[in-house]
Amino acid sequence: MPAQGKKITAVSLRERKGQGDKIVAVTAYDVAFARLADRAGVDIVLVGDSLGMVVQGQSSTLPVTLDEMVYHSRAAARGVSAAHLVVDMPFMSYQASVEDGMHAAGRLMKEGGAEAVKLEGGEEVAELVRRLVCAGIPVMGHVGMTPQSVHKFGGFKLQGRTEAQARTIAAGAHALADAGVYAMVLESIPAALAEEITAAVPVPTIGIGAGPCCDGQVLVMHDLLGLDPDWSPRFARRYAELGRAAEKAFAGYAADVRAGRFPSKKESFS
Ligand code: KIV
Repeated sequence: MPAQGKKITAVSLRERKGQGDKIVAVTAYDVAFARLADRAGVDIVLVGDSLGMVVQGQSSTLPVTLDEMVYHSRAAARGVSAAHLVVDMPFMSYQASVEDGMHAAGRLMKEGGAEAVKLEGGEEVAELVRRLVCAGIPVMGHVGMTPQSVHKFGGFKLQGRTEAQARTIAAGAHALADAGVYAMVLESIPAALAEEITAAVPVPTIGIGAGPCCDGQVLVMHDLLGLDPDWSPRFARRYAELGRAAEKAFAGYAADVRAGRFPSKKESFS
């Protein structure tokens, strides 16, 4: 069910497992788009570390800092009212030690206004997940093609095609569920593996490039809105062509200024 004014929480999302009520998530990185997504009734606004690529123009999410995540989270939080605000823990803010992860998550909640944090990995992050949940911080997991491990994977490649990979991903999903995540993202894995994990874990799965059988779906807003006219991954669907519309608007404005058509008398003060 869309947000429609009722606050969506980690608890209410967790309770939707098995109800057949698909969870809708989208990324946003600032107040304007977070507010639009919230008003459209999406359940989850994710301040993803994908901002390193789609906002900062970097080739991976690795350079994103905790300060940058706090900054974008704080901005997006001002646009969200009913939707649940989840914020990514950036690369190396939690991998070196549980203490690092506790402090990083604390900053995202205290300074960024996050209502939950998301981190990547399976069994290797289970202890941190346990500690965060004990401290009152809801955690969303993320397994499959986890972008912070892009160099380990040799690129942004589908994971879980071999039986060994599939078993590692499934074991990671179980470890996360046992550790107390309230939901988990399954990214770029075969649809059949996502279906198997979704049937086996007691918390909602939210897919991206993981087929239709997950309990919900998430998309990067730039892909959904067509903000980059030259980029369209196979797993995404464009619901608008805002990139082309923006280019046209900029060109129209430039033409009007150059021709002396803007500003008009009505757009000027006497
Ligand atoms: O960073 C991000 O936007 C994400 C989603 C793709 C799930 O992690």
